[in-house]
Formats: sequence, structure tokens, C-alpha cells
Amino acid sequence: MSDTPDHPAILEAFRAAMRHVAATVYAVTTGRVGERHGILATAVSSLSFDPPSLLVCINRSASLHEPLACAETFCVNVLGLGNRDIAEIFTRERGEGRFAVGEWSEAHGVPVLANAQSSFVCRTAHRHEFGTHTIFIGELIDARHREDAAPLTYYDRHYIDISAAPERASR
Ligand SMILES: Cc1cc2nc3c(=O)[nH]c(=O)nc-3n(C[C@H](O)[C@H](O)[C@H](O)COP(=O)(O)O)c2cc1C
Repeated sequence: MSDTPDHPAILEAFRAAMRHVAATVYAVTTGRVGERHGILATAVSSLSFDPPSLLVCINRSASLHEPLACAETFCVNVLGLGNRDIAEIFTRERGEGRFAVGEWSEAHGVPVLANAQSSFVCRTAHRHEFGTHTIFIGELIDARHREDAAPLTYYDRHYIDISAAPERASR
């Protein structure tokens, strides 16, 4: 290991290590009058039960950043294996085009994916800038959950069924 924190080798080691961290895939969305915005994210975490809260880390260069910074509410949609079409269209399209597939409804002014594994509508409680990203902390105001969904997982630059992770790791 190098002692120089900004050595390019550190970044490469971080990238390589993070590729092998299996991550749940989320569609983070927000809205403002007549507009819907969303990106795929994996930098999402539950924060606390008291109050029920989540955090999402959004790159300031992302199209979602400005609308999210202005919005009072946002939605964290946990994608299931059955939502692969959402992951694909969010990667392929931009803006409103990202909402062309899937059954999207509106709750508290934000787009909610009807058949997501779970959806958490949050009111933004705090924002913290770090490096290239803003961490948005949201307090939960509404939640929906389906018992019958399996998570869509991002691992080694692919979407996988989590049961396949040990197989890929042993290559
Ligand atoms: C699997 C996956 C996970 C991602 N996770 C994040 C994330 O946690 N935060 C983030 O800001 N961007 C994340 N991105 C990138 C955004 O989804 C998006 O592609 C990027 O911000 C450019 O979006 P834009 O075209 O809307 O500006 C991720 C992309 C993929 C494919």
C-alpha cells in the first residue's frame, strides 16, 4: 500500500475493490411541476430508525442533482429483478424518457415505481457536500414494500441475481 493518499494506485485499488462489493440498485427520483427526474444509484443507505431515515449520495454533475437540491421530497425505489427494464432505460435515456417504461405513480409530488421491491418517500432533512457529491439525508414520510420481490444487484459491472455472486467471485 502507498502512503500517498492521492496516489493513482489508491484510486485504482478502490475501484477494483468496490467493483466486488455487491450493491442493491435504486432508482432515486424527484419531481417538480410537470417534470420528473431520476438516476440509478447504489450509494444509498438506511440511516436510522429514530427518526426513520435514509441517505443518498448524488454526484453534483448528475442531472438529478439540481432538481433534488431544490426539492422538498424524493423517492428511493429499490429495484427488484423484475425491474431490470427500469435499470436499462435509466441508463439509455435521459430526462422524461427514463419514465417511458414501468408503472409510475405520483405520491407527495415524486415519481414512485408501482412494482419496485420497495419505495421510500422522504422529506429532505439535511444536505452535506463532500468531494464531487452531495449526501442528501431524508426522513421517511411514506413507504411501500412487496414481499415477493428479489433484489436486483450490481456486481463486477453487471446486474446479477445475488445468488450468482459466489460463482462470479470464483472466476
Ligand atoms: C449501477 C449504477 C450505480 C450508480 N450509482 C450512482 C450513485 O450512487 N450516485 C450517483 O450520483 N450516480 C450514480 N450512478 C450514475 C448515475 O446513475 C448516472 O448515470 C449519472 O449520474 C449520469 O446521469 P445523468 O445522465 O442523468 O446526468 C450510478 C450508475 C450505475 C449504472
